[in-house]
This record gives sequence, structure tokens and C-alpha cells, in this order.
Amino acid sequence: MTIAQRQAMQLSKRPRRLRSSAAMRELVAETTLSAHDFIAPFFVIPGKAIEQPIAALPGISRFSSDRLLAELEHALELGVKAALLFGVVPTEAKSQTGKSAADPQGPVVSALKAARQAFGNDLTLLTDVCLCGYTDHGHCGLLKETPRGWVVDNDSSLEQLARMALAHAEAGADMVSPSDMMDGRVAYLRDSLDAQGHSSVGILSYAVKYASAFYGPFRDAAGSAPSSSVSIRDRKTYQMDPRNTREALREAVLDESEAADMLMVKPALPYLDILSHVRQHSSLPLVAYNVSGEYAMIKAAAAAAALEEAAAVKESLIAMRRAGADLIISYHALEALEKGWI
Ligand code: PBG
Repeated sequence: MTIAQRQAMQLSKRPRRLRSSAAMRELVAETTLSAHDFIAPFFVIPGKAIEQPIAALPGISRFSSDRLLAELEHALELGVKAALLFGVVPTEAKSQTGKSAADPQGPVVSALKAARQAFGNDLTLLTDVCLCGYTDHGHCGLLKETPRGWVVDNDSSLEQLARMALAHAEAGADMVSPSDMMDGRVAYLRDSLDAQGHSSVGILSYAVKYASAFYGPFRDAAGSAPSSSVSIRDRKTYQMDPRNTREALREAVLDESEAADMLMVKPALPYLDILSHVRQHSSLPLVAYNVSGEYAMIKAAAAAAALEEAAAVKESLIAMRRAGADLIISYHALEALEKGWI
């Protein structure tokens, strides 16, 4: 190549110089990922000394609250400082009104008390607040018959969600995390918590939650799919339409104005554009939920030797941080840290 040709091609400008060695790439890396960026999700069941592996989520189990303590301790040892608890109850404990969601003897309450006693304030304890695991119809709110047929009723659901959040606050939760997608629930929970003396308990709002096919394995894990016995077969009247971006901003702005302390976008990988968009319009900490279907997809591909799991997991998690997530809820977190993938 002649000097003239080189100049014509502008080959003095070479981005590859900054990729020339691992040490150089480390120097110019724009995104970080560490144990502190994770919130580890856990499924809690009633009883003692029980671990139930979840077929749809290879490597993930449901634990009774006593067994959960060892898992939480392990998470802390790996540097993860926050856990999000999901309660799972047997069919007998489910009802039309989801009464057991606020049971003071329920699995989440037991786990909160045990964890607070064992770890003090070293571990930040968050709880999912939603009725789908506690209603016999499997919807996130309560049903009501109207002249237009059965609907998931917004305002009566708020009362039951508030009872659930209060039970968690009483048991020592640092933050409650409503995932039901009823309108006005952040303000309603905030007022209810404040009125009962829990003004220091925070709210991580599932502000931007899409009606997604990627929750399939979770619904198996939590037994929370909409029941085939009710006429409303999906969650599209309350979770968001995947075609919408502006609506995401509307939800985020509303929840921020209702005093949410952190916002979440869910799912993560198919919605990185949304994460980035919300990031630009809110100064609150932003959380990405790397949901069950995203996890199961990588596990299945790795089991079929279609990709290298360690690299695929790291790349996915980095992508969420790059798009604007401060924190990531991920089923991969503990395994990835344990095995040194990140
Ligand atoms: C409860 C809830 C769901 C998830 C978190 N909270 C399921 C749903 O909305 O049906 C999904 C989490 C996952 O897929 O990992 N409403």
C-alpha cells in the first residue's frame, strides 16, 4: 500500500489500537459488572428443611425459610448484598381474594424474620408484592363482574396489595416491590406504609412491566399462571403492550411522582431500548429484571452445546448494564459469581 493510498483510506485512525491487549481493553472499558450490581431472586415455600428443584429453571430451587438462610449466607459470601423474595404457597392456601398473601405466618414473612435475625442489616431484603401466587384464578389483582364481563379490578386489588406489603414491612423488609401493574399502587402502598409507621420501608416499583412470553418458567416455579377456569386468559389488561415505548415513560414518570424509590424494567434482554430510554428520563436507580425465560433460553442453548454459557451470560449481563441498569435481578447471578464467569 502506498502512503497516498493509506492517507486516502484514513488509516492513521485505528480504533484497533485500543483493543490490542487485555490490559489495554481493561483501561478503556466503559461498563463494569460486579457482585454489588445484583439482586438475587429466591422462591420461598412453607415448611422445614425443604429444597425443591424447579424443572423449568435448571439450577434454581424453592427453599423453606430455614434452608433459605444458607443460600442467603452463600450470596453474601459471594458479595451479593440484596435478595428479592417470592412466596410460593400450596393450592389449598389460594383463594379468590388472595387472603394468604398477607398471612403473618406465610413463607415470606417467616423468611424475612429469620434473615433479619441472622444477617442484621448486612443483607438488603426485598419482597415481591403481587397477588398472582395467592389467588385461585392466578391473576395479579382481584376479579370483579361488570356489565362488560369479568375484569381485574384495580381499586379493590390495591387494598389487598397494601395488606401484603404491610405484612412484609412488619416482618422487616427493607423494600417492597409491587409487580401487579395496578394503577396507583405505588402511591397507595406509600400512603399505607407511612400511615402504619413504615416510612423508612422503600418501594422498588416494577414500573415498566410488559405482558411477556418470557415469564413462562417463573409461572411454573411460583404456580402463578392465570387459571384456565377464568375467562381472562392473559395479563394484557394490566401489563404493558410490547409495541409501546412512550407508554413506558408514562409509567415510569407516574411511579416516580408517586414516590417510588427505584424503578424496574422487565423483561431485560428484549427491552434494552426501553431501559436506555427510561435511564435518560429518570434519576432514580434503575433495575433490570433478567427474567426466567431469558435464563431458561441460555440454559437450554448451553445444554444443546449451541453456545458457551459463561460468555453468553457475561455478555447478556453487561448489555443490561450498558443499556443503563444500575442493578440486575438475575437467576444467573450466584452461579456466575461462584464460577468466576464475571
Ligand atoms: C408476579 C411476577 C412475575 C414475575 C415476577 N413477578 C410473573 C408474571 O407477571 O406473570 C416474572 C419473573 C420471571 O419471569 O422471572 N406478577
